[in-house]
Amino acid sequence: MSITKKNYSRITTKSLQEIKNNNEKISMLTAYDYTLAKIIDTAGVEVILVGDSASNVMAGHETTLPITLNEMIYHAASVVRAVKRALVVVDMPFGTYQGNSLEALSSAIRIMKETGGHSVKLEGGSEIIDSVNRIISAGIPVMGHLGLTPQSIYKFGTYTVRAKEEKEAEKLLSDAKLLESAGCFAIVLEKVPSKLAEKIAKEINIPIIGIGAGNKVDGQVLVLHDMLGMNHEFNPRFLRRYLNLYEEITGAVKNYVNDVKSMDFPNKNEQY
Ligand code: KIV
Repeated sequence: MSITKKNYSRITTKSLQEIKNNNEKISMLTAYDYTLAKIIDTAGVEVILVGDSASNVMAGHETTLPITLNEMIYHAASVVRAVKRALVVVDMPFGTYQGNSLEALSSAIRIMKETGGHSVKLEGGSEIIDSVNRIISAGIPVMGHLGLTPQSIYKFGTYTVRAKEEKEAEKLLSDAKLLESAGCFAIVLEKVPSKLAEKIAKEINIPIIGIGAGNKVDGQVLVLHDMLGMNHEFNPRFLRRYLNLYEEITGAVKNYVNDVKSMDFPNKNEQY
């Protein structure tokens, strides 16, 4: 179970605010399927993000842009069936909320109704604030996402650190304030200088969850497959690998192949 002063049997948006207010940290990981969601929920992570990184991790696309609303709903419903304690946040995929706020609301309603998830996440600040406002007015909790926003990769042109220049840093802080006053319950801050992230976490009352944003924020998020070391090609500085599952799985599969070919598997005790 997670280490917080209060023992939460169910994490809500209110619990996250309490954790920040108590100067404790929030742990968040992605999941896209029932089996892994069940493991990380039982292990005590507070927030499970059904990230649109499923587009890369599960479907093998180069970016997060191609994943559809129906595909996100499939992943999110599988995750929700496994989760008993964590707060489940579902990413709204590219193209389902940027156009107009009514379309954004109907996409968010589909996510809530068809997955049983607890909240949605949208990328961007002032550009999408009408959608954020409309979704929150319908009673759906919204998590913001600022800094490196992968759905805008073709605008940025690169996945490098954001907001190193003062002008972009100022826009980031004002977007964070805007999202807070709209009623977002938390904000993901991706790949920004740690000093800036610290300033934002101090000036904003809602929890700031960082990825590549240093440890002076209110919590951390990583892509599960990356922190389990299932992918050895992705090596950003912010990533800590807790396992090397790429090697482990490769070794296990090689052993299985050898055992099948040598007829070591199945043995006497593994047959009827
Ligand atoms: O889609 C995702 O996995 C994310 C995290 C990187 C925060 O948005």
